[in-house]
This record gives sequence, structure tokens and C-alpha cells, in this order.
Amino acid sequence: MSLLYMGYHTVFKWLILRLTIIQAGLVREKSFGTTKDRMLYIEQCANSRAVTIFIRGGNKMVIEETKRSVHDALCVARNLIRNNSIVYGGGSAEISSSIAVEAAADKYPGVEQYAIRSFADALDAIPMALAENSGLQPIDTLTAVKAQQIKDKSPHCGIDCNDVGTNDMKEQNVFETLIGKQQQILLATQVVKMILKIDDVISPSEY
Ligand SMILES: *[C@@H]1O[C@H](CO)[C@@H](O)[C@H](O)[C@H]1NC(C)=O
Repeated sequence: MSLLYMGYHTVFKWLILRLTIIQAGLVREKSFGTTKDRMLYIEQCANSRAVTIFIRGGNKMVIEETKRSVHDALCVARNLIRNNSIVYGGGSAEISSSIAVEAAADKYPGVEQYAIRSFADALDAIPMALAENSGLQPIDTLTAVKAQQIKDKSPHCGIDCNDVGTNDMKEQNVFETLIGKQQQILLATQVVKMILKIDDVISPSEY
């Protein structure tokens, strides 16, 4: 942080002094834009795999939005490096999970089946929201896609958000990382469990 208070030229001198330590092959200054913003480029560094992503935009909002997008994209790349398994997107993974959870509920004769069925309903909320946000009839679309998944035994049928003409997400090349999907469902489940726990604490005192 102290660098910020040193001023541009002092920083420049400070950097030159330390170039031997970081072993940069090239340090140059570049000015650009209408306001002649200046930037210091430190390149060809030995023993460094660091990369700087430089984002410019018309206003702060555009920059923040782009930063978020780049961050999201980097996270997807990181997930794929950790584990390259994928699931198909467009809500197809949630729909096939919902079908599997519903089938599992049938095996429980006790009250547990209601909780399990609610979990399946909750999974349906994702493709339903996707359909609604794409301007489609949410319930009709979900029912049709779910029926198609069961009929064709094709777990990669999802919501055709962009109106491409097919709802086969494999064909559309729409996919998500398995890690990401696992985390989403895990997190959502944890939140629900937390809320249910709080309800348990509060409600008895009301009586
Ligand atoms: C990725 O995760 C899945 C599910 O946890 C696992 O079955 C698979 O072996 C993992 N793949 C790698 C390459 O680690």
C-alpha cells in the first residue's frame, strides 16, 4: 500500500532498482486513450507465470460487470482443471436429478417421501426459472422437457433458451462443470437446512 503514496516517478525508480531481483526482460511505459493514461509494463519476467488482465470500459459499471464476467470465466476454467467432468446445462442436469430423486421417493413408504419429493420440486425450480426468463411458458416447457427426458432416456434435454430449435444440450454444446453444479446444490441445501433449523427454534416460543 505504501507504493501508492510514493508517486509515479518514485515507483519507477524503485522498480528499476529492483529489476535485478525480479529479472524482468523488459520494462516500458505506454500511454493510451484520450486522457493519456500511463501504464507501466513489466514483461518477460523470469520465474513468473503471473498474467495481468487489463480491463478498460466506458464507465465504472461496465468495468465492474466485465470484471465479474472474467472472474466467472476464470472460475469455470479452474473447475475444469480440478476435475474435467461436466454436466449438460439448460436445466437438463436439474431435470434429470429431479426425475431420479422422485423415483427414489417412491422407495420410502414413511413420511420421508414428502421431504424427498419436495427436494425434487425444488430442483424443478431452476429449469422453470430458466424457461420463464427466456420468455417461455414455465410449467408447459418444464413438463414437456421432463416427459421427453423420460421417454427418450436422454438426460441432456434442457430448456431451449435461445430458441435454437433443439433442446438437446449436447447438440447445443451447453454444459457446466460438475464441480460447479455440485457446489450449487450443496450450498442451496445447506441454506435450506439452516433456515429450517431457525424455524424450529423460533416456532415453539410462539405457542
Ligand atoms: C471428478 O469428480 C467425479 C465425481 O466426484 C469423480 O467420479 C471423477 O473421478 C473425478 N474426476 C477426476 C479426473 O478427478
